[in-house]
Amino acid sequence: MPAPSVPSDIVFALPDVHPAWLPDAAFRPVGSRRLALGTPADGGTPAAFEVLATLRSELDRATAAHGGAVVGPQDAADLLLHLSPAVPTGFRLERSGGRVTVSAADPTALLHGWFHVVRLADAAFASRPGDPDVDEHHAPASALRMLDHWDNVDVHPVMGQVERGYAGGSIFYDAGQVRPDLSRVTAYARLLAAVGVDRIAVNNVNVAAREARLLTDDLDEVARLAAALRPYGVRAHLSVSFAAPMTLGGLATSDPCDEDVRAWWRAAADRVWAEIPDFGGFVVKADSEGQPGPFAYGRDHADGANMLAEAVAPHGGLIHWRAFVYNHTQDWRDRSTDRARAAHDHFAPLDGRFADNVIVQVKHGPLDFQVREPVSPVLAAMPRTRVALELQVTQEYTGQQRHAVYLGPAWSEILRWRPWGDGGATVADVAAPAGGFAAVSNVGDDRFWTGHPLAQANLYAFGRLAWDPTLDTAAVLDEWITLTFPDAPGPLREAVHAILDESWHTYELHTAPLGVGFMVRPGHHYGPDVDGYEYTPWGTYHFADRDGIGVDRTRATGTGFTGQYPAPWRDVYEDRETCPDELLLFFHHVPYTHVLHSGTTVVQHVYDTHFEGVERVRAMVERWEAVAALVPDDIAQRVRERLAEQLRSAVEWRDQVNTYFLRKSGIGDLRGRTIH
Ligand code: GCU
Repeated sequence: MPAPSVPSDIVFALPDVHPAWLPDAAFRPVGSRRLALGTPADGGTPAAFEVLATLRSELDRATAAHGGAVVGPQDAADLLLHLSPAVPTGFRLERSGGRVTVSAADPTALLHGWFHVVRLADAAFASRPGDPDVDEHHAPASALRMLDHWDNVDVHPVMGQVERGYAGGSIFYDAGQVRPDLSRVTAYARLLAAVGVDRIAVNNVNVAAREARLLTDDLDEVARLAAALRPYGVRAHLSVSFAAPMTLGGLATSDPCDEDVRAWWRAAADRVWAEIPDFGGFVVKADSEGQPGPFAYGRDHADGANMLAEAVAPHGGLIHWRAFVYNHTQDWRDRSTDRARAAHDHFAPLDGRFADNVIVQVKHGPLDFQVREPVSPVLAAMPRTRVALELQVTQEYTGQQRHAVYLGPAWSEILRWRPWGDGGATVADVAAPAGGFAAVSNVGDDRFWTGHPLAQANLYAFGRLAWDPTLDTAAVLDEWITLTFPDAPGPLREAVHAILDESWHTYELHTAPLGVGFMVRPGHHYGPDVDGYEYTPWGTYHFADRDGIGVDRTRATGTGFTGQYPAPWRDVYEDRETCPDELLLFFHHVPYTHVLHSGTTVVQHVYDTHFEGVERVRAMVERWEAVAALVPDDIAQRVRERLAEQLRSAVEWRDQVNTYFLRKSGIGDLRGRTIH
C-alpha cells in the first residue's frame, strides 16, 4: 500500500469551526479500543488507496485521542475493518465473540462502515456477556446520494456568494476564486461520509459567465476541489451551461444536433476526465428561469440531455438533467396556464428516450420546495427513465435557517408516499434504483456550517434518508443529538426533540395555509407577503377574492393537473370531498365557508392554525431557555437569537395572513381573538 497521501492533521479539528456530528467525544467508544485495518489487495485505484489512507488516519486519530491502539489485522482487535470482494454493495457488519468485523469491497463503503460503528458507539461491541452475535449487511437504498451546491464563484449582485444560502459564504469559493485553503472542504466531505453522501455538485445550477469557465479554462480549480473531497470518497460534479459551446467555444450555435457542438462537448468531457479521473458528471438546468437550453433550436430535452450523455459516457459520467422547466413569464390574467403542470407536460412524453446515463432530477413537488405540496406526478410518469428525487435542505421557503424547522418528517412523507395507492410502490422505491436522491445543501462558511445550529440536523437527515428512506425520522434526530451533543442529558435530548419533532408542521401552521403555497416576499422569499406574487409572471397564484381562495386544478373545471396523477390520486385530488385538507387549496378554489374534514371552515382554520402556530413557537423559545445552559455558550446564544427571530416572524405571518383573510372574507374569528 502506498504511503498515505492525506496529512493526518488535515481535517479533524478546524479552529473556530463547530465539529457538527463528529466531535472528538463521539469517537470515544471506538477510540478506546483496539482497532485494525486489513491490508488491501493489489490493484486499487489511486483514489481507493487515498480513501484507505484516510481510514487509517481516522483510526490513528481516534485511538490517539482516547487511549486505544491500532493493531495488526492478525492481532485480536476489537474492530477489524477490511476489504472483501465478497460484499457486493455497502458493508457487512459481523460481531462474533465480542469482536466486530466490518468488510466491504470498496474503500468508500468501508469508510461508511467505520462511521456506522462510530454512530453505534458502545452498542456496536458486545458489552455484556450473552450479547448476541450479529451478521448484518448494510447497503444504501440507492447508489446515487448527492448534494447540490448553489455556490457562485463570483459574488452574484442579487443572489450573493451562495444562491439561497443562509449560512454565510461558500466553503469552496471566496470573492471570485476557489479558496486557497480547502481543508474545510475536506472536513465537509468527512461529515458527508459519516452520513453516506458521496457526490457533490460544486457550483450553482444557474451558471453565470465566471462559473461557466470552470468547465474549461479553470478546470484546474475544479480539480483542486475534487482533490479536497477525494480523501473521504466524495466525487465532484459540475453544473454546466447549455450555451457553453457558444460562450466558451466560440461556436455559432449550441444546437444539440449540430455535429460541431457534439464534438465540442466530447472534447470538453475528455479534458475533464483527463484532469479528474473520478469526476462524476454534469448537472444541467436548461430552458428554466432564463438558462439556455435545447428549445432555442426546436429540440427537446431528450435531445439536449442525450447529446451530453454521449460526451460523458466513455468516462462513465452521469448527466443530472433537471425537470424544473416552466414558463416564468406567465400572464397572471391567464388562468389556463398552470406552472404545476409544466414538468410533466415537458418530460412525461419523453419517457424512454433518455440515455442510460441521464438522470432526470425532479423537484419533490410540482411548484418549488413549498412547505406543503403534493408529490410531483413526474416521479410516477417515467418508468423507462432514471428519475431522481430532488429535495431542498437549504431552507429557502422554510424559514431560511432563522427558523428551526426539521425537514426529516416532510421528506419521509414524500419518500413513503405511494403514487399508485396502497400496496403500490413508494416514491423511494421509484427513485432509489433509478436516479437516486439529490438535495440542495444548506452549508456555508458559517461557524456552525448551517447558520442555525439545529439546521445541521437537516443535512444529517438527508444523508441518512438517502441511505435508507425507511428510517424513522425521530430516531434519526436522536442519532444526530447523540453525536452532536455527546453525553446529552435527558432534558436536553427531550427539549431538542420537543423543538424539532413537530417544527415542520408548526411552520406550516403559521405560513401559507392548506397547501396554497408562496405568500412570501418576492425575491428573497422570507416572511409573509400574501399578494406578493399574485400579479407577477411567476405562475404562483392563490386567486383569493371576496368569496374564496385556491387554485382549481381539477379536470372538470380547472387546469387539469389532477389528471397527471395515476389512480387513485387523480380521483382523490379531483374531488374536494376526498382531497386531503392540507392540500385543499392546492387543488381547489373553495369558499371561505367551505367545511374541512376537520369540521372547521377554511377561514376559521386559517385563524386557528395561525394563532396556534405562534403559540407553538413561543413554547419552543421557552423550551430552549430551560436547557440552554446544558450546551456550549456559543450554541445556546445562536439558537436563542434565531428563536427570537422565529417568534417575531411567526407573529408577522400570523397577523398578515389573518388580517388578509378577515379583510377579504369579512368573516370574523369565532373566538374573537385580535386580528388587525
Ligand atoms: C427556485 C429558487 C432559485 C433557483 C431555482 C432552481 O426558484 O428560488 O433561486 O435557481 O429554484 O431550482 O433552479
